[in-house]
Amino acid sequence: MGVPIRSGSSKKHNNEAMKLIIATFFGVAFGFLLGVSFPTLALTKMSLPSSLFPSIDLTYVDDNYSKGATKSIWDAWASFNGNRSMPNKLQKSNDTKIWVPSNPRGAERLPPRIVESESDLYLRRLWGMPHQDLIVKPKYLITFTVGYDQHNNINAAIEKFSENFTIVLFHYDGKTSEWDQFEWSKRAIHISARKQTKWWYAKRFLHPDIVATYDYIFIWDEDLGLDHFNAEEYIKIVKKHGLEISQPGVDPSSSYTWQMTKKKDDSEIHKDATDTNGWCPDPRMPPCAAFVEIMAPVFSREAWRCVWHMIQNDLVHGWGLDFALRNCVEPSYDKIGVVDSQWIFHQSVPSLGNQGEAEGGKAPWEGVRERCKKEWTMFQERMASAERDYFQTRGDISLNSTTR
Ligand SMILES: *[C@@H]1O[C@H](CO)[C@@H](O)[C@H](O)[C@H]1NC(C)=O
Ligand SMILES: *[C@@H]1O[C@H](CO)[C@@H](O)[C@H](O)[C@H]1NC(C)=O
Ligand SMILES: *[C@@H]1O[C@H](CO)[C@@H](O)[C@H](O)[C@H]1NC(C)=O
Ligand SMILES: *[C@@H]1O[C@H](CO)[C@@H](O)[C@H](O)[C@H]1NC(C)=O
Ligand SMILES: *[C@@H]1O[C@H](CO)[C@@H](O)[C@H](O)[C@H]1NC(C)=O
Repeated sequence: MGVPIRSGSSKKHNNEAMKLIIATFFGVAFGFLLGVSFPTLALTKMSLPSSLFPSIDLTYVDDNYSKGATKSIWDAWASFNGNRSMPNKLQKSNDTKIWVPSNPRGAERLPPRIVESESDLYLRRLWGMPHQDLIVKPKYLITFTVGYDQHNNINAAIEKFSENFTIVLFHYDGKTSEWDQFEWSKRAIHISARKQTKWWYAKRFLHPDIVATYDYIFIWDEDLGLDHFNAEEYIKIVKKHGLEISQPGVDPSSSYTWQMTKKKDDSEIHKDATDTNGWCPDPRMPPCAAFVEIMAPVFSREAWRCVWHMIQNDLVHGWGLDFALRNCVEPSYDKIGVVDSQWIFHQSVPSLGNQGEAEGGKAPWEGVRERCKKEWTMFQERMASAERDYFQTRGDISLNSTTR
């Protein structure tokens, strides 16, 4: 990340400035180390204003030795401050301005190597060395959208996920600390926002850059029976068959399911279903292929990056999304499938549905159901019109509308 240098005199200035920056940096670092190397009794927060660093926020040890520590930090700061005019002048000349167009949007002023554009959901310690924080780095993410009423079911479900999973619970009923009766809850991440849906949370908290570290992302409902399911085995199968978007087969004795997502008895996975009702004019299209339901989908990192972008901020129920997943992988009839040998039971507890509001003499769940259907139509229309616009601006007017 070298600072570009052009003229001789500016080079000299630069060298001096660099020396100075290095010297003061070590001064600050040394002072800081002094501070933290003594046992902590009380924490003192100190914040130093600066024009170069907007603020240095040091939480350091305050004990009998801390006067020394404080002094060295202030000494370092004073020398930094006193000599600040030079680096500042240099910053004003065009030569040392940083502008990296290939950085993420908005981060062009930063030297590339400091830019961290992706993150994870790993919990870290407050002490020790950062690189020693994590004993396991989970490669998979499981999220459940839950109400406390379902705690026994979720507790049973979590057992099916190994330590290779980061657990995130989205709470739609505001009850979070209640879950601490379960040991695993203490290593889970709890996100609480009242009366929101799975796709609302997913859009807000599972941005692809935030969950970029995970190979597979499970975004599941709370009313699934996992007696015949093992997550590690599931991942092995999904990898083996190259499924980018998948779901476990659903026990046919569960309440209503699509033909495609029903568990088959004689296979490890399947990628299509036989059309029994004349619903599938194209056997390679949803709902007979390239289709999983929104109830228990599993996405690869790449597939999720696409699907996340397709989720609409206002269409919170996600209805219709299952029919559009095929847009995100190619060829979709080959990369979307259902795993039969690890399967689930759908209990159909209308829990979040009951969190609606009684309106115009209708039960809460009726209002919710109506909105689900409306959203489905709206989503389809938006998708169709977006595709139409795209092909029209491309000048490809022979394509009148989308085939659907
Ligand atoms: C700090 O100093 C006080 C008095 O000077 C002394 O009684 C106390 O033991 C010291 N504490 C530590 C942690 O050294
Ligand atoms: C500026 O930095 C030099 C070392 O490069 C140091 O000797 C001097 O004391 C500093 N100036 C102030 C005002 O601290
Ligand atoms: C610095 O930038 C200004 C305005 O952008 C420009 O007029 C000037 O020529 C530049 N100087 C150098 C040395 O590039
Ligand atoms: C977790 O992942 C590691 C590395 O892939 C694997 O060796 C281990 O068996 C996994 N744990 C379980 C419980 O499957
Ligand atoms: C496009 O629409 C026109 C009339 O709306 C129709 O005559 C034509 O066959 C359509 N073309 C295609 C490729 O569907």
